[in-house]
Parts: sequence; C-alpha cells; structure tokens
Amino acid sequence: MKDTGKNNSSKKNAGYKAAEYVKDGMVLGLGTGSTTHFFIEKVGMRIADEKINVKGIPTSFQSLLLAKKWNIPITTLEEHNINLAVDGADEVDLDFNLIKGGGAAHTMEKIVDYAADEFIVIVDESKVVEKLGKFPVPVEVIPDSSRIVIQTLEDMGAECEIRMAKRKDGPVITDNGNFVIDAKFSEIESPSHLEIDLNSIPGVVENGIFSQMVDKVIVGKDDGAEEL
Ligand code: A5P
Repeated sequence: MKDTGKNNSSKKNAGYKAAEYVKDGMVLGLGTGSTTHFFIEKVGMRIADEKINVKGIPTSFQSLLLAKKWNIPITTLEEHNINLAVDGADEVDLDFNLIKGGGAAHTMEKIVDYAADEFIVIVDESKVVEKLGKFPVPVEVIPDSSRIVIQTLEDMGAECEIRMAKRKDGPVITDNGNFVIDAKFSEIESPSHLEIDLNSIPGVVENGIFSQMVDKVIVGKDDGAEEL
C-alpha cells in the first residue's frame, strides 16, 4: 500500500520534534507507521537519558513491539486517559483532515487519537495536500460483509479493492482479524460527511478518514521540522 522506506530524514525530524512535546508524567497514545517509529524511538531515548516517567497506549502490534523495545511502560485505555497522542498520516489537508490506514491500523488509531486530550500528527512534506483523495480511503470490514460493502462503496462512486498481503497468501488481516477495502473516490468534497457515511454501512468497522480533533500538524523536512 505504501513505501515506508522513503523520506527517512524528514520522518525522523517530524517524529523527534513531536517528542519534545512529551512531558514527565504523561500517558501517550502511540501511533503506527514509519514516521511514528521515530517518535517512539525518541521517547524511549528520553526515558533512558532524562528518566522521564511516561506510559504508552499502543495503536497496533507494531507500536506495542516498538514501545517494548524502547522500554516504554505499556498501559491500556481501560486504565488511563491519554494526555497526548502522536500519529502519522497518509494524507493531511490544510483543514487538518486526514486519510490514515495505509498500515491497516486505523481502527485502533482512531480510538486512541480521538480519545487523547491533544493529538499531534507527524508527516513528511509529501503527505500534505490541498484536498484529500489521491490516497484511497482504507475501510476495515468484517470479512463476511466484504462483497456487500464493496457494492455499496461502488454505488457511492468508489473504485475498490480488497488489500492483499505481501508476504502471506490472500488478504491483509488487521490486528482485529478483519479485511481492509481500499476505496478510491475521485473527489472527497466533505471529509466529515464521508467519514460518517462510510461508518453507517453495515459491516464497516472503521474507516481511515479522520476529520476531527487534530490539534497540531508537524511537517518534517530534510533539514528540520515545522508546524502547519
Ligand atoms: C497505519 O495504519 C497508518 O494510519 C499510518 O499511521 C499511516 O499510514 C502513516 O504511516 P507512515 O508514517 O509509515 O507513512
């Protein structure tokens, strides 16, 4: 779905910049993906160097494993509210609407990111767009509903494909045991309406439009990072 090997220095600059917003005692939402990778890494370094006391709530098995590697204590939404969530995105527009889910983790990401007191998005420059829609919208579905959901999405004007795994035969299976349909809309006029419309299709678990609650966007470049 995406090439995570590109723009590494920009991703690192964005992730490291976001780690400056982490304060002692915070509970953090730990996003997923190659940009958030650098945020988690830097938080781990700050725990080691500055002995800050933070806890993390992962949004995927990927971020869980990475947090454990960096000795970030893990907690759950059952036990704690989140002070700050930091997460990547596949596209961000100038009103701070997002498309997420290139790594199939958008369901847990949305739960964690929307629950946080503050939500910071970290991207490299290539992700900033005027209007969402070049990237298909990932839609997580209960497997048995796929054909019916695809029919409905096509009626709404989308071109759809079930996301296929790269090193496993058959479809990508999400951390929640579901399929992902990538739905390409030619135009997304109203991200907030589309977000609601997609979630009202029976069988849809969650979609990758995030139209609420972004507080800050940090854009990483080769030589630094700036806030939008
Ligand atoms: C995970 O499913 C996604 O929402 C990622 O957060 C998003 O795809 C950004 O990932 P990268 O930072 O790897 O581009």
